[in-house]
Amino acid sequence: MSDGDAELEARLAAQEEFEPPAGFVEQANVSDPDIYGQFEENWPNCWRAAAELLDWYEEYEQVLDDSNPPFYKWFTDGKLNVSDNCLDRHLDERGDEAAIEWVGEPVDEDNVTYTYEELHREVNEFAAALLDMGVGEDDVVTMYMPMIPQLPIAMLACARIGAPHSVVFAGFSADALATRMNSADSEYLVTCDGYYRRGDPLDHLAKANEGLDGVEHDVEGVVVAERLMDGDGFGHDLADNQHAYADLVADQAGAEVDPVERDAEDMLFLMYTSGTTGKPKGVKHTTAGYLAWAAWTSQAVLDIKPEDTYFCSADIGWITGHSYIVYGPLALGTTTMMYEGTPDYPERDRLWEIVEEYEATQLYTAPTAIRAFMKWGAEFPERHDLSSLRLLGTVGEPINPRAWKWYYQHIGDEECPVVDTWWQTETGGMMITGLPGVKKMKPGSAGPPLPGLDVRIVDTKGEEVKAGRAGYLTVQKPWPGMLRTLYKNDERFIQEYWAEYSDTDSSDPDDWIYFPEDGAKIDDEGYITVLGRVDDVLNVSGHRLGTMEIESAIVGVDGVAEAAVVGGDHEIKGEAVYAYVILEDGYEGDEEMRGRIVEGVEDAIGPIARPEQVIFTPELPKTRSGKIMRRLLEQIANEEELGDTTTLRNPEIVEDIQQQVQSD
Ligand code: WTA
Repeated sequence: MSDGDAELEARLAAQEEFEPPAGFVEQANVSDPDIYGQFEENWPNCWRAAAELLDWYEEYEQVLDDSNPPFYKWFTDGKLNVSDNCLDRHLDERGDEAAIEWVGEPVDEDNVTYTYEELHREVNEFAAALLDMGVGEDDVVTMYMPMIPQLPIAMLACARIGAPHSVVFAGFSADALATRMNSADSEYLVTCDGYYRRGDPLDHLAKANEGLDGVEHDVEGVVVAERLMDGDGFGHDLADNQHAYADLVADQAGAEVDPVERDAEDMLFLMYTSGTTGKPKGVKHTTAGYLAWAAWTSQAVLDIKPEDTYFCSADIGWITGHSYIVYGPLALGTTTMMYEGTPDYPERDRLWEIVEEYEATQLYTAPTAIRAFMKWGAEFPERHDLSSLRLLGTVGEPINPRAWKWYYQHIGDEECPVVDTWWQTETGGMMITGLPGVKKMKPGSAGPPLPGLDVRIVDTKGEEVKAGRAGYLTVQKPWPGMLRTLYKNDERFIQEYWAEYSDTDSSDPDDWIYFPEDGAKIDDEGYITVLGRVDDVLNVSGHRLGTMEIESAIVGVDGVAEAAVVGGDHEIKGEAVYAYVILEDGYEGDEEMRGRIVEGVEDAIGPIARPEQVIFTPELPKTRSGKIMRRLLEQIANEEELGDTTTLRNPEIVEDIQQQVQSD
């Protein structure tokens, strides 16, 4: 260990805090600590500051309409267009500057820069093509695409014509695509022929076509972007309702489409995410509140300035990519990077090579990636000049102090603040994290809530818990970026997020409390440490997966009688899927069965949900009332000491299962 390491190690051990680097504070977008007090005093009018970052066709009337909680409305009657805000208004000053720097996975391929001018042109052309295909305002357009430029282009084209998008992560399975298109009654799909993963072309269109077979209504139009290079294609013929992206755009060369005036509360997009039940939830985000939130947090937390080259390594198929690759950065007129591939191809220094080449100024990534970088070793970042970086961020799961330290030291050279940002698909953008130019950092804690947010840690009765005690995270006042409902399911919206702590008969907004289903604790300076989900949702490599979704996939496999899925600790992934499976009589728990179960999960959800271990057992540990003891299954997966088993109906089964896990 070097001296520097030892010193940092000691500071961490003493749980020392880190002041924001002076050089950073000097130039930070937000550096006045009074912002916290001012926002509290002026709530909800403080959020005019976020609305001011946007251009409006018509000013809004009211900042917040809270007359019908929890159906809050923000910036009422304001009119604007998201594509106008992300493109047109930047043309005069930033037209020749890069909007998107796209880096493909193959190293021998030319990367692509889209200036604001070029991006604007192609978005217009594609918007014209969508209109031609019959897409109308408020028609949901599904996108099933990897990290290629046509994805943000399609999103912005939809925003331009007022058609909400629903992006399905490209790593999800065909079934997952079909479920989401059915749920959203989506009649249009934008997809692509394939993409590259660790050097190999993947046949994405085959998966998309299989998904389309499962769509229960007529599909009016499908657009297929060509990503694969000559010779790598899979030779699919396009069906009658399928159009090549390049042809559509070429046919519309030079077309201009006026951005439609959208109401502040009109839907911008849907994003499906996992919850407690087997059915994914369609989280609905609106035009003004969402964009204002994405832009304001990008400016205040990520410290984005137009002249930056900002790099978020998430996938646009998840909410982080929506808010912090596409909408927040482009609303601010900066340069946003998109990288198609994985960080270890062709070598483990790929990200650092990109940071160096493009002189990236911010890096926003996930703790699971940082744990992998740590494991690979500091020699990879050391090969590159990372001195362009000014700020580092993390999102998706808690970051442990060791990983925090590694990131701070080896990537940030102790010169960059690290923002650990807690938020969710539902919140639209960041909620808990220190403003980097104002707040000191405490590794392991996400930090205090952002200004203007009322976050409290409570017990089961809703009473605030003392500092240091574990409790449940709640948000007690609405905020502009919040989800508005679950698509076509107001009832489930209330049940999932509000019922726990609100008086649901009340029309007084003070009686309505948002529950994100995370556990947390707070210290006496108001810093929050998020402890993880308290519902049946797993966080595998920062990806959110429902245990019920995985269980129903497994039960769908021939020969499986029952299944219970829990998360076990995993060094890199954070959590890994452990599946306990009971087979029907006459079936063997052998390798073939195991293979079929893994395949069943991959078909229903995707490889990200693949079980780490499949454990066959004649019974699951159950309470006398017949409830599966999940906590016990988690303890077994983690090879921890077991809690009380005496209340079980079948305590004898526990040892059997334990032995199996350990022998695997
Ligand atoms: C978890 C991702 C601890 C949390 C933006 C939340 C975190 C879920 C953090 C949402 C963090 C996200 N510290 N936990 N900084 N960020 N989480 O919807 O459990 O994919 O509820 O949104 O990730 O996952 P989602």
